[in-house]
Amino acid sequence: MDATPARKLIIAVDGPAGAGKSTIASRLARKLGYVNLESGAMYRALALKAIEWDVSFDDAAALRKLAENSRIVLEPTIGGNRVLLDGKDVSSRIRERDVTEAASRVSVHPPVREWMVARQQEMGKDGGVVMEGRDIGTKVFPHADLKIFLDADPVVREQRRLDQQKIKGPSAESMAAELRERDHRDRTRATSPLVSAPDAIVIDSTQLSEDEVLKQIDALVREKMATA
Ligand code: DC
Repeated sequence: MDATPARKLIIAVDGPAGAGKSTIASRLARKLGYVNLESGAMYRALALKAIEWDVSFDDAAALRKLAENSRIVLEPTIGGNRVLLDGKDVSSRIRERDVTEAASRVSVHPPVREWMVARQQEMGKDGGVVMEGRDIGTKVFPHADLKIFLDADPVVREQRRLDQQKIKGPSAESMAAELRERDHRDRTRATSPLVSAPDAIVIDSTQLSEDEVLKQIDALVREKMATA
């Protein structure tokens, strides 16, 4: 029997907000004994710092400088990534609405993305990672062992986000509108827009349960491992 452990893969999971990336990436990582790295949390942490330091979301050079002077650490835990900004746990704060909006704006700037991509490449270079985001398969790890592009119908994605955050009533419509706007920004920005890599496997989760999506990805991983 071959006792050599399979090479540790780099798995990229990209897709729009609300497609189920975070839950799937974290469950997959746990199943494989891999580390789940949530690249969006890094953009969120920088956005929070920009809010705190009153740096304009449109000032690319100032944002890059801010990033260079920041310590953003992702600590994978069972329940998702714990995020430290300059030593402070900001895991909950970065999920709030103002930071969500700011993250979408700071992430359009090429100097910011360049800095983030370099950090992310460093974090995942040894493999054994499931990294999720928007440009993991296209920019961060164009040679990833497996690339998944997880998509879903926009109406379903909006509803999932609202359910996740337990939002009902009048604020639901404005939240949904904000998600559509962020989506549009992610997909149309000039640098690294959200697109599926040509060699990514697209999974549409509109009609699928979390378990079904995980099962599909798990089968793809096993196939890769067998040949890695
Ligand atoms: O995945 P998320 O919602 O936490 O991401 C927050 C923002 O960061 C989102 O508006 C898109 C941006 N982002 C990005 O541009 N590239 C990534 N790899 C991850 C996130």
